[in-house]
Amino acid sequence: MRGMILAGGAGTRLFPLNQVSSKQLQAVYDKPMIYYPLETLMTAGVREVHLISTPHDLPVFQRVLGDGHQWGIDLSYGVQPEPGGIAQAVTIGESFTREQPFTLILGDNIFFGPIGLANQVSAFGGGAVIWGYPVKDPQRYGVIELDPSGAVVSIEEKPSDPKSALAVPGLYMYDGTAVSRAKELAPSARGELEITDLNLNFLDDGQLRAVEFGKDITWMDSGTHESLLESSNFIAAVETKNGYKVACLEEVAYNMGFVSLEEIAGTIEAMPMSPYRSYCERAILG
Ligand code: DAU
Repeated sequence: MRGMILAGGAGTRLFPLNQVSSKQLQAVYDKPMIYYPLETLMTAGVREVHLISTPHDLPVFQRVLGDGHQWGIDLSYGVQPEPGGIAQAVTIGESFTREQPFTLILGDNIFFGPIGLANQVSAFGGGAVIWGYPVKDPQRYGVIELDPSGAVVSIEEKPSDPKSALAVPGLYMYDGTAVSRAKELAPSARGELEITDLNLNFLDDGQLRAVEFGKDITWMDSGTHESLLESSNFIAAVETKNGYKVACLEEVAYNMGFVSLEEIAGTIEAMPMSPYRSYCERAILG
């Protein structure tokens, strides 16, 4: 299955940090935020990835991530000229998805723990799949209401009076009809094509399934100063305590069998002397 990462938007909630770099290139502890959603896709076996960003930020992503060959993936890019909404960005990826199923992940979403995406990818049978994650502040997110059998009853975008505490994380799986459905959507009151409206379109056709994340999963949306710091603190705590790195893409690529030992050794050799390089040497080269 293909993967799409959305890394556009204005990131204004991070002002004045957004003037330095795009939100998804800000540091989450010891690496750029974008590494984490890339890791999520790679560990699910996704090797064809399309990243969408603004005309201003895209060249920086290209410089930082390249064409992905160093991680054994094929990374391509698309431009979203204006932040017209997450569902609009989906339509921009049309020439990449080519009516094939794809997994969509938002570039400011960090998942930690056994999210089981690889299983969902191989079991995907069409329609759309979204996830639900219990939060204390559902008003900040898309919110789903499930019936006792787990079927989706409703989805609302940032409701003032949420029907449940289940937020919809920025991870979605769609079949080949997603782009044409997204093109049919009308802009919301804030002038965007909303991802929640795309999900409602699948729901109306009885084509939407929701999976609840368990307590062993941590999900963070790093779009505000507080959540950015929280994400950094979380990753720092995990890495310091356990001695391994989260989202070390060289390690992921090697463990997934995307690159050979010889190839990854070459990549590591080209890195400047740094704690990141030392970790790669220790963890991969032994
Ligand atoms: O994080 C999960 C939430 O993400 C969901 O629960 C909501 O249903 C969904 O609408 C979204 O809400 P946010 O308010 O967090 O969306 P935000 O505008 O921050 O955009 C999320 C990501 O998508 C961000 O990495 C930038 C990217 N994006 C956003 C827009 C509006 C684009 O690439 N293009 C866009 O036009």
